Amino acid sequence: MAEFRTQLRETSNLCVEERPGPCTMVIFGASGDLARRKLIPAVYNLHRRELLPEKFEVVGFARSGISDVDFRARVVDAVRACCLGVSSREVERFSTNFHYQRGEYNDAEAYRSLARTLSDFGARRAAGGCHVFYLATPPRLAPEIVAHLAGAGLLAECTEGPACSRVVVEKPFGFDLASARELDQRLAEHLDERQIYRIDHYVGKETVQNMLMFRFANAIFEPVWDAHYIDQVQITTAESEGVEGRAGYFDEAGALRDVFQNHMLQMMATVAMEPPSSFDAKSVRDEKTRILRAIRHIDPSKPCAGVVRGQYEGYPAEEGVAPGSQTETYVAAELRVENTRWQGVPFYLRTGKRLCRRASEIAIFFRRVHDSMFAPFLPDDICPNVLVFNVQPDEGVSLSIQAKGPGPKLCMGTLSMEFRYRAAGLDLPDAYERLLLDCMQGDQTLFIRSDALEAAWSIVDPIRRGWDAGLGCPLIRYPAGSEGPAEAASIPARIGRAWRPI
Ligand code: BG6
Repeated sequence: MAEFRTQLRETSNLCVEERPGPCTMVIFGASGDLARRKLIPAVYNLHRRELLPEKFEVVGFARSGISDVDFRARVVDAVRACCLGVSSREVERFSTNFHYQRGEYNDAEAYRSLARTLSDFGARRAAGGCHVFYLATPPRLAPEIVAHLAGAGLLAECTEGPACSRVVVEKPFGFDLASARELDQRLAEHLDERQIYRIDHYVGKETVQNMLMFRFANAIFEPVWDAHYIDQVQITTAESEGVEGRAGYFDEAGALRDVFQNHMLQMMATVAMEPPSSFDAKSVRDEKTRILRAIRHIDPSKPCAGVVRGQYEGYPAEEGVAPGSQTETYVAAELRVENTRWQGVPFYLRTGKRLCRRASEIAIFFRRVHDSMFAPFLPDDICPNVLVFNVQPDEGVSLSIQAKGPGPKLCMGTLSMEFRYRAAGLDLPDAYERLLLDCMQGDQTLFIRSDALEAAWSIVDPIRRGWDAGLGCPLIRYPAGSEGPAEAASIPARIGRAWRPI
């Protein structure tokens, strides 16, 4: 396959990012995995890019009885583990912005002490500004933490000037529609929707964000972005890892709740949404919600129609997994959008753990050329054009097109035009960097609004209900390191399509 590469030349005058105003971030669950693997590295990278507020402090809040010094040593380790070539002096200086507050999540006094610490920062450094409370804790703790923050007077509304508080809530946000609504109601007792940042880190990934520019800023794509030209869409999130020490959580959640309900549906919404009237949080989120609501619900009495669930061999023997667990580690499904733009276009979504490769992508298959004058000379139909957004790893975009090969008059081949961020020498920020920065700046565009969240649960709940009712949708075992259950092929095969190889 011939191949040529492109470069990205920045044409917008908005490529320069601005530092947010003064801010303090409090990480609940600061001694946990998310803080170590994602949040501290993201804060460090923002610092390296000079994108942290000039006045910025981080308070780690957790139950472990450690000191400021211990916490800073953990910060240093986390930075060393994520970012090569950092000098000891630089990382140690960086770590001095980190402080530690030990506390039980239900102890009102710990929150009063936190409030004193934050007000000290305000007085000493004239930091004032916003407070970002990041709940890197199990989701069930969110209402309690928020209630205590309110009790300690720490939840100033964002309408009251720059000194306002925002709360970042990690997924899973509930475990079904009813529990998500209940959680929302409990948060709403203390927070306005403008203060709630429901995070889905896939939405912050560069290639997913790029989808909006690609679609809406290019006259060669937007006019053909519908059922007249697009034949099918495939969205894949494949992981080579298994549950990796998270069995306690994953075995209750399963792949449907863990990845499908959020990351997969968010990517689908980004592909399928109508053009927002402007690029602001409200318009973008309105359109995403609208499209999620337009997805046809699966009939719970036929939970296997267009859905396959699987479990990798050896999963029940993983540490922390319940013996005989029936939790799915793989889901593939066909979804349809009930609007004119997408009439008749299948969206195939699949996600799984312990598959052959780590790869997330969105592939848009265009329709084949009909009545081609080349048909008599080619063994098959001409291959369709496929536009692929490589979400990870090796983020980029590629488009396959048909072209003449040099030499014989009728030599035709598939040409792949590829753009790879890294090959173009571009330093790619992690999704958490983007999302933390947006939160400090008060931009909710890439965060999930409660109505979109409800729409997503409404799609997933009937599938789960069908499975739970034992309506004959078997859990299919697949070998670790494979492409998942072979039965998943039957989903696109119903109309003569096939999955892209992972
Ligand atoms: C998380 C899920 O939200 O996303 C994990 O809980 C999954 O189970 C992870 O492994 C995948 O994220 P990424 O960015 O590594 O693809």
